[in-house]
Amino acid sequence: MAMLSALLNFLFPPPPSLFVSAMSAISLVSLARAGFEEIKGKHLQYSKFQNVNPSTKKEKIQLSSKSGMLLLYTPAFLAGAASFYVFPHEGLRTTFVQSALTLHFFKRVLEVLFVHKYSGTMALDSAILITLSYFLSTATMLYAQHLTQGLPEPPIDLKYPGILLFFIGIFGNLYHHYLLSKLRGSGEKEYKIPEGGLFGLVICPHYLFEIIEFYGISFISQTLYAFSFTLGTTFYLVGRSCATRRWYQSKFEDFPQHIKALIPFVL
Ligand SMILES: NC(=O)c1ccc[n+]([C@@H]2O[C@H](COP(=O)([O-])OP(=O)(O)OC[C@H]3O[C@@H](n4cnc5c(N)ncnc54)[C@H](OP(=O)(O)O)[C@@H]3O)[C@@H](O)[C@H]2O)c1
Repeated sequence: MAMLSALLNFLFPPPPSLFVSAMSAISLVSLARAGFEEIKGKHLQYSKFQNVNPSTKKEKIQLSSKSGMLLLYTPAFLAGAASFYVFPHEGLRTTFVQSALTLHFFKRVLEVLFVHKYSGTMALDSAILITLSYFLSTATMLYAQHLTQGLPEPPIDLKYPGILLFFIGIFGNLYHHYLLSKLRGSGEKEYKIPEGGLFGLVICPHYLFEIIEFYGISFISQTLYAFSFTLGTTFYLVGRSCATRRWYQSKFEDFPQHIKALIPFVL
């Protein structure tokens, strides 16, 4: 009880919507489970892990990574953009949440088109699963924000620290994507050990900044759903980054052992 009232200093009261309440639990549990599966060696099949189980690759429909990634991000971007028309004039906080989500997915679309240099394919079933997850979570986050209309504001306002975290996250993420893209010349497909930025400390700094970005969005939003989704994303990216570190250790004999997976000096 004491914990609930402490949480209510930071959060809008849980929404009177069975759908949003169920989605809060589903997002958290399903993303955390996917992160656990990554650690166990059952990966979403794209990037370094596209061939992880070659026996199934032939049976699965494959998309080029670029097409797959565009499929992933476009519906969520459109949901963000459409929200300005579906839920107009709902106050500063909602406008910030709408802008942050739309900007996030618009940046991802631009990065897919103009920054990333991909080497392979993505399994269609993984692409559909991730597309649905991004679209549903974005639409739910926007709807959960809409449901806060008319409710009293949480006593502690995290909007502006959230905007700061959001921008630190989005620029840190972009910068490390740029460093990854510099590892390959045009047409090159092999993997190298990344350098620069935080790559000397962790092998997935781009994931770390993505997490910071989503905590930024949660701070702006202050809804239970935004925090549940962000916590789930954190678990997933912890799992994927640990799997990625193991992949580098197995592929490169000279991979520096002090480089952690996600959090400098810790994990
Ligand atoms: N919210 C979530 O749950 C979630 C989950 C995953 C990703 N993301 C977002 O998506 C972004 C990209 O994620 P990702 O999993 O696709 O990242 P990634 O596997 O690190 O790949 C990013 C790009 O860098 C290339 N690359 C990676 N390592 C390389 C190396 N050692 N040498 C040369 N090129 C390399 C990849 O090429 P290949 O395609 O050829 O490997 C790809 O073009 C993340 O930063 C994050 O913003 C979000």
